Amino acid sequence: MPTTQLREIAPASRLENVRYAIRDLACIADEVAKQGHKILPLNVGDPNAFDFQTPPHMIEAVYKAMRDNKNGYSPSSGIKPALDAIRGEAARKGITTIQDVFITSGVSETVDICLAALLNPGDNLLTPCPDYPLYSAVLAKLDIHLNTYYLNEEDGWQPDLDDIRSKITRRTRGIVLINPNNPTGSVCTRKMLEQIAELARQHNLIVFADEIYDKLILDSDSQGKDPHVAMAAVAPDVPVITFGGLSKNYLAPGWRIGWGIASGEAAAIKPYLEGVNKLLRARLCANHPEQYAIPAALEGPQDHLIEVKRKLRSRRDLTMNWCSETPRVGCVSPRGAFYAYPRIDIPEGDDVFVTELIRQKHVMVVHGSGFGQRPGTKHFRIVFLPDEKTLTTAYSAIADFLRERYG
Ligand SMILES: Cc1ncc(COP(=O)(O)O)c(C=O)c1O
Repeated sequence: MPTTQLREIAPASRLENVRYAIRDLACIADEVAKQGHKILPLNVGDPNAFDFQTPPHMIEAVYKAMRDNKNGYSPSSGIKPALDAIRGEAARKGITTIQDVFITSGVSETVDICLAALLNPGDNLLTPCPDYPLYSAVLAKLDIHLNTYYLNEEDGWQPDLDDIRSKITRRTRGIVLINPNNPTGSVCTRKMLEQIAELARQHNLIVFADEIYDKLILDSDSQGKDPHVAMAAVAPDVPVITFGGLSKNYLAPGWRIGWGIASGEAAAIKPYLEGVNKLLRARLCANHPEQYAIPAALEGPQDHLIEVKRKLRSRRDLTMNWCSETPRVGCVSPRGAFYAYPRIDIPEGDDVFVTELIRQKHVMVVHGSGFGQRPGTKHFRIVFLPDEKTLTTAYSAIADFLRERYG
């Protein structure tokens, strides 16, 4: 065998901007776990890691599909019964101008494909700050500079419209709206959606409406109605891709099933959809048997949601009680999903706070700087999926830590 001098294989320099604080913290947690400590994980948005289980009728549907040998490739956009079920669900949400529907390996892949199909070098896309880090990671991969707009903590974490307006440039192609929001748990008002739609019309933007948590609304409005309004329903003329999937509402994140619903005026959105479909074909298809769970999920019993929301409401309330009675902590009450994003008043960085909290108290949360935040503010994200006993233990450890470290 010839001997060669092996040189280091360097990763692409554009990856320097890829940060995924949620998973990066896992390395520190591993160290702590190796020392024999049990970690209290308030950092991972995976319901199945806690006391939530995928509805059995969805499992049956996948099992049957596998037994029926639906184990080959599927059409690139997805199987017809699943696409029909997604269209039906979109119609129930008031989306009337559907131009296309496609199924992907989780919303993660929908985002990957939709952003790659849109952006040329030098273009930009408005993304929220704080944001769910998937968006900045995909943009870094595409070598696209970040253009973030603030969510306004003083306004219940609603998007800051003035900031959005001031950030739109000649090269802005679209805007990402995460609603219900990760990491803040806020839910957009109809008025806010209308105002964002108006900006999209004026500046010819596409809206990426990430609504993966739309069935996990914890509060009803004053008339007792579910206050989640789909962006695409408010703006039938505007090009919108609505993202949804089985990971959160249907408790099956490991199945990697997500989808995009494209709506808006046909003439405006069709050329872009050709690009999206090119990329869909290039990657063959999403997991095939798991797609059979989509009609089962969207058209079958929704009973699990009652229990899921009951648990989440109780855990949210426990979290908010703790936040309001703990010195140095304050939090806007989350209205959807399973995240709280408290502000902390501490003399050091929230990244140091989080790292030391894992090392000393073995509680894992994620620092606000991992999501982006207004300069001078400090936060941490709590995932309140664990049961009340675990949350109580974790919150008491965090309160002890705050007192011991900062007085
Ligand atoms: C706002 C948001 N979008 C997308 C995703 C990714 O979802 P999926 O599991 O469908 O890839 C997540 C996961 O936490 C999320 O919070």
